[in-house]
Amino acid sequence: MLIKRPKGWELPEASATSENVYHERRRILKAMAGAGLIGSTSLLGLPRRLSAEDAAPGDALYPAARNDRYQVTRPLTDERLVTTYNNFYEFGSHKEIHKAAQKLKTSPWRVTIDGMVEKPLEFDIEELLARVPLEERLYRLRCVEAWSMVIPWTGFPMKELVKLAAPLSSAQYVVMQTFEDKAVAPGQKQFWYPWPYTEGLTIAEATNDLAFLATGLYGRPMPKQNGAPLRLVTPWKYGFKSAKSLVRFTFTDKRPVTFWEALAASEYGFWANVNPEVPHPRWSQATERDVGSGERIPTQIYNGYGEFVADLYQDMPGEKLFT
Ligand code: MTE
Repeated sequence: MLIKRPKGWELPEASATSENVYHERRRILKAMAGAGLIGSTSLLGLPRRLSAEDAAPGDALYPAARNDRYQVTRPLTDERLVTTYNNFYEFGSHKEIHKAAQKLKTSPWRVTIDGMVEKPLEFDIEELLARVPLEERLYRLRCVEAWSMVIPWTGFPMKELVKLAAPLSSAQYVVMQTFEDKAVAPGQKQFWYPWPYTEGLTIAEATNDLAFLATGLYGRPMPKQNGAPLRLVTPWKYGFKSAKSLVRFTFTDKRPVTFWEALAASEYGFWANVNPEVPHPRWSQATERDVGSGERIPTQIYNGYGEFVADLYQDMPGEKLFT
């Protein structure tokens, strides 16, 4: 399939990462970790990195090699738009949040895995990055507000995190939480929102090939406004499922009430799969505005990813799969 890339983004041939260089960088990072060169031991048994306050976590790992299984037919959205046209209610509901989000400190960044797992874990983001295979994927992002983008994410398949967590067979969902810190995130002082931002997937969704934990975009570590240092990306669902700046993954047998569901369940449900034929109660979902070109284009069921995910939703009568 054709991939068009706008001139601004494509890496010059010379700076593209070959497989060899990529694996060599990972080997060095792991060796440094093993030799204790980057800090003290943590619960995972891996060393904790002592990093400069503003160094982006794992920045030596970028850019990662692209996984060509995930193709797009629209041009990538300009990087400037991807990093300025954001939703991040922790920092406000205006379109200047990319500036406000710079207050977020992403190093050190602790991630907790708990709940129905063999053994709860807590680790620094760098330790996680040393244990998972980073790759680049081009995905469409469809927001429930009926706009869309095409974004080159860097990250790793969420199934890798599930593997690390070793959930008990009784676990059915994984619940994700964003950081909570009113001192840096003024939106969290707005008591009418059910902070922290919480999202959830079934284990089957979380281990689907498409479910991705993104740590970067455009071949670089994740900008803060896009959810550094770790965010969910589920491209077949509306964008609000893709929770940003995650600190906790809790495995459970109870379906969580998610952030937006708690606020307006009839508008933003648990499943939130994209479907042009199921309108939002206040607007149509039949088309979307491509933020890059400004054009209105038809929306596709599961945002065009049905071949990967439609099977997940067979025989689920009574579930509002598309809200
Ligand atoms: N995650 C958190 N923690 N807070 C938010 O406000 N907004 C969601 C989602 N993840 C949001 C969030 C919404 S509504 C969308 S459309 C996407 O992030 C937007 O991601 P982007 O800003 O990287 O385009």
